[in-house]
Amino acid sequence: MSAFPLNHIVESQQFDRPLLETVFRTADQMKADLAGEHRFAKALDGCIMASLFYEPSTRTRFSFESAMLRLGGSVITTENAREFSSAAKGESLADSTRIMNGYADVIVMRHNEAGSAARAAEISRIPVINAGDGAGQHPTQALLDLYTIADAFAGIDGLKIAMVGDLRYGRTVRSLAYLLSKYENVEIVFVSPPVCRMEGDIKAYLEKNQVPWREETNLDRVTPEADCIYMTRIQKERFHDPEDYQAAAGRYILTPQRVKTMKPDAIIMHPLPRVDEIPKDVDDDPRARYFEQAQNGLYIRMALLYLLLSK
Ligand code: CP
Repeated sequence: MSAFPLNHIVESQQFDRPLLETVFRTADQMKADLAGEHRFAKALDGCIMASLFYEPSTRTRFSFESAMLRLGGSVITTENAREFSSAAKGESLADSTRIMNGYADVIVMRHNEAGSAARAAEISRIPVINAGDGAGQHPTQALLDLYTIADAFAGIDGLKIAMVGDLRYGRTVRSLAYLLSKYENVEIVFVSPPVCRMEGDIKAYLEKNQVPWREETNLDRVTPEADCIYMTRIQKERFHDPEDYQAAAGRYILTPQRVKTMKPDAIIMHPLPRVDEIPKDVDDDPRARYFEQAQNGLYIRMALLYLLLSK
């Protein structure tokens, strides 16, 4: 395998198709290895991952930590860096990053401010992985999302993807839109309330890359035509105006009745956590892929850690 060309993972735009293939084939290897020979069980023996999370997380933090442990590495962690690191005493992100450089071999960081991972990467000599930066990006989520879609359809080219919900503050949909633009004949439908439409920078990027997109407010017009319905939570914590939140909350619920209108081979995804946008009675539908999607996060994150640290 040729050397992995990235030193840090801060945004989806860093990945082109050959690099995506490298990550996905390595994730395949990790998945097969965990089910079989465990040849990678000591691949990162002696390496330490610092997980520095300034915002809550279940999937991203635990899957990264599990990934590192399954590769034979170790983890140092703070589950709430805003309260339990010296950020609570006013330490800057730059100083915390410098300090972690002396203690760890890779930093996995979730932060409340967009651009924070890029700022940390600028001064870090060890890899920084963006585990979500405010309403900015969540590139490792987008990689596992794309891996899940590619697995369901044996490829990405020609698919119609509907992104539904909080597209204004949703970092997962922003990162996924960048990655989808690498593929041929992909079409994106943005379904959101007017108060949380997809931002102009993503629309401009799609236009520049000749990716057709359109906006809808009526989910019922989209469910019968999409290959993938990517639901998202309306993120109450990111709204500045409670009235805007009230205008968006509870608007898009993928009820079993709506699921019935979907194509038989379409899939339902969600980065999770969910609130009310996918009722539990949809979970047993074979088109529901969100738990498999979360599981794929382990394989993708094992692949990323391995590619970054074993070169
Ligand atoms: N999808 C995702 O980022 O989940 P967590 O917030 O639980 O990490």
